[in-house]
Amino acid sequence: MIKYTGPKKIKTAVFISGTGSNLKNLIKFSKKKNSPITIDLIISNNSKAKGLSYGKFFKIKKKVFNFKNKILIEKEMLSVLYKYKIELICLAGFMKILSKSFIRKFKGKILNIHPSLLPKYKGLNTHARALNKKDKFSGCTVHLVNSKLDSGKIILQKKVKIYKNDSVETLSKRILKQEHKLYPAAIKKLFG
Ligand code: GRF
Repeated sequence: MIKYTGPKKIKTAVFISGTGSNLKNLIKFSKKKNSPITIDLIISNNSKAKGLSYGKFFKIKKKVFNFKNKILIEKEMLSVLYKYKIELICLAGFMKILSKSFIRKFKGKILNIHPSLLPKYKGLNTHARALNKKDKFSGCTVHLVNSKLDSGKIILQKKVKIYKNDSVETLSKRILKQEHKLYPAAIKKLFG
């Protein structure tokens, strides 16, 4: 794992597919003096992603890639990432699975946030699954991305209590609030 030292901030790209509340939160974090990162690029597979509006608002370059031909698109994506000298990728609600060869090119430099206490509930619908199992806790995890889905080294986790009357909506809202604290904390832990 590369250790970043000195005054130079880490050039970061955030990948999104939807709302982008984690993106917005990471942008705000990046603007703080003690943040080790700058956000230089937003990438989405979805031109309708609500989160893309933060690119305009915060004047951050954004690029949309249509993932129909993954091999070709990843090649294009890599050249854009190199062009902007991106050193770190933060996946934040990005709904596409990156190929092994793409991940190898950014080995140890791709982070993801996942709405469960990994290794529990990899993949989708984590809140519904935790509720169905009548778990007492769920939470969120920031981890490094490797070639297996939601399986890379865990950087930080936050436990969140599940209440008897919780629904997917109430639980996801409460966990999202914690995600917004956890992602910056994990970045600080790694690079701060
Ligand atoms: C978050 O719950 C994140 O953990 C998951 O997708 C959701 C994205 O939310 N991977 P947002 O787009 O950042 O609001």
